[in-house]
Amino acid sequence: MSLLELSGLHAHYGKSHILHGVDLAVPDATIVSLLGRNGSGRSTTLKAIMGLVRPSAGSVRLDGRDLTGRRPYDICRCGIGFVPEERLVFPNLTVEENLVMGLQKPPAGTAAWTIEEMYAYFPRLKERSTIRAGYLSGGEQQMLTICRSLLGNPRVLLIDEPTEGLAPQIVEVVMEVILDIGRRGIAVVLVEQKLTIALKVAAQVMVMGHGEIVFTGTPGQLADNPEIRHAWLEVA
Ligand SMILES: Nc1ncnc2c1ncn2[C@@H]1O[C@H](COP(=O)(O)OP(=O)(O)OP(=O)(O)O)[C@@H](O)[C@H]1O
Ligand SMILES: [Mg+2]
Repeated sequence: MSLLELSGLHAHYGKSHILHGVDLAVPDATIVSLLGRNGSGRSTTLKAIMGLVRPSAGSVRLDGRDLTGRRPYDICRCGIGFVPEERLVFPNLTVEENLVMGLQKPPAGTAAWTIEEMYAYFPRLKERSTIRAGYLSGGEQQMLTICRSLLGNPRVLLIDEPTEGLAPQIVEVVMEVILDIGRRGIAVVLVEQKLTIALKVAAQVMVMGHGEIVFTGTPGQLADNPEIRHAWLEVA
């Protein structure tokens, strides 16, 4: 059985019908990339999982447990972490205080992530631990948001375009951290615009088009499938 399972998920913004029955299964401890063109519904899918957009039909299950329609805070406590596109930090709290805000108990029998581990991933955050988060650069705020989510000890981490606007060296570091998160047994759903990165880190890729999953396979299968890439990914 999959750890996270979306079945026939529909979502609307007002009268606009955005998700048209998304079926998506994320195995335990696996990095999955969710690809698609701008506006295909990737962010909406993540928000619908988190309860930030209320699904109008279908279900979201974690480990078989139905989370559909629950409140975002509750869904987070059940073990789904979310790093949204718009880096959410508490601007008036220090870096360290932001990290402390993220701490939640791990599931029984698993080791908790520590703030020291976060500083080991991103030494820059340690250097700036006493600075208010509002003064950080966009890249540093991105690192902080990822770390804060990890400290919640999620079983699945949803990450929306983490490398957007980052300098190439930082992109590398963020990718290494995501790979390490996967190695530590956390499932990851990564929305990533850069195809090479998405294919490099993921064990499985899913492509969205017009609010549905139009392809599921391995990175190699997608690389060997020019029709799918042409129809759903490349800019015409
Ligand atoms: N708050 C909103 N209200 C109304 N429509 C929205 C809202 N957010 C997104 N949409 C629309 O929903 C569709 C899917 O958007 P979504 O953000 O899920 O796309 P995406 O695949 O993440 O692409 P990108 O991040 O490149 O915009 C788009 O047509 C978008 O214009
Ligand atoms: Mg998006």
